[in-house]
Amino acid sequence: MEGNEGYDSYAFVADLYDHVVPYRERPDIAFFVEAATEAGSPVLEVGCGTGRVLIPSAQAGIDVVGLDASPQMLAVCRQRLERETVAVQSRVELVQADMRHFDLGRQFTLATLPFRPFQHLLTVDEQLSCLTAIRTHLVEGGRLVLDLFNPSLDALGRPADGEEVGDEPRFSMPDGRRVLRRHRIVSHDRFTQVNQVELIYYVTHPDGREERLVHAFPMRYVFRFEAEHLLARCGFAVESLHAGFDRSPYGSRYPGELIFIARKVS
Ligand SMILES: C[S@@+](CC[C@H](N)C(=O)[O-])C[C@H]1O[C@@H](n2cnc3c(N)ncnc32)[C@H](O)[C@@H]1O
Repeated sequence: MEGNEGYDSYAFVADLYDHVVPYRERPDIAFFVEAATEAGSPVLEVGCGTGRVLIPSAQAGIDVVGLDASPQMLAVCRQRLERETVAVQSRVELVQADMRHFDLGRQFTLATLPFRPFQHLLTVDEQLSCLTAIRTHLVEGGRLVLDLFNPSLDALGRPADGEEVGDEPRFSMPDGRRVLRRHRIVSHDRFTQVNQVELIYYVTHPDGREERLVHAFPMRYVFRFEAEHLLARCGFAVESLHAGFDRSPYGSRYPGELIFIARKVS
């Protein structure tokens, strides 16, 4: 296993990522930029991908180190940065590393994991290893924003029938390809809490050729109190817990998000 759940096995993932409509419209950027601005530089973004959140943070004046295991996602981020001003570029450092084991030799005021990279970690050992590495990289009292999805018990109660679903709008690529994305849960293992997920891209090329591309990966779901215990075991105190990026409190809607703001404690 390459260790980053298919982001490099499938060259198309990094290519298409920034164009997927729900990613483009994900309402989390202001939340993360505000958290970074409140904390002040420097910020560590773990699983930064193509820079969807990292670049707006640098545009807001934050010095940010982006860490990701995928050279292809980082390559897209670098291309995007080339279009930014020298000032923005100078605030960003990108590091190819595995979030389960890294040592950057410096500390940060804030660490973030926007859009659920933590759920690519499939075992408790991997989760603890990641949180421990993050803690080492935080100054005393530094904060962590852990962005997870809140598992829907209704969805988990239904058998994973492998049916393709999704009603996302079609999107266009700069080279004229038209893409429709759907998804399916191939299986869910209720004992390991791992869903086998497929993101399926139906691509129509400008010459009319059709392609079906599948990004298949496992994803672990994590419940609220489980995450709290993991955080406590790794030296974090939960300061607040939110159901959405509008900072609405956890429990105000279901299933909502599961967004922790936690502080490093000694
Ligand atoms: C859903 S993307 C999120 C990207 C970005 N944070 C965003 O908000 O758009 C998950 C990212 O986690 C990265 N990733 C997965 N496993 C990883 C690992 N073990 N170490 C570092 N990055 C990893 C992937 O390469 C991918 O870029």
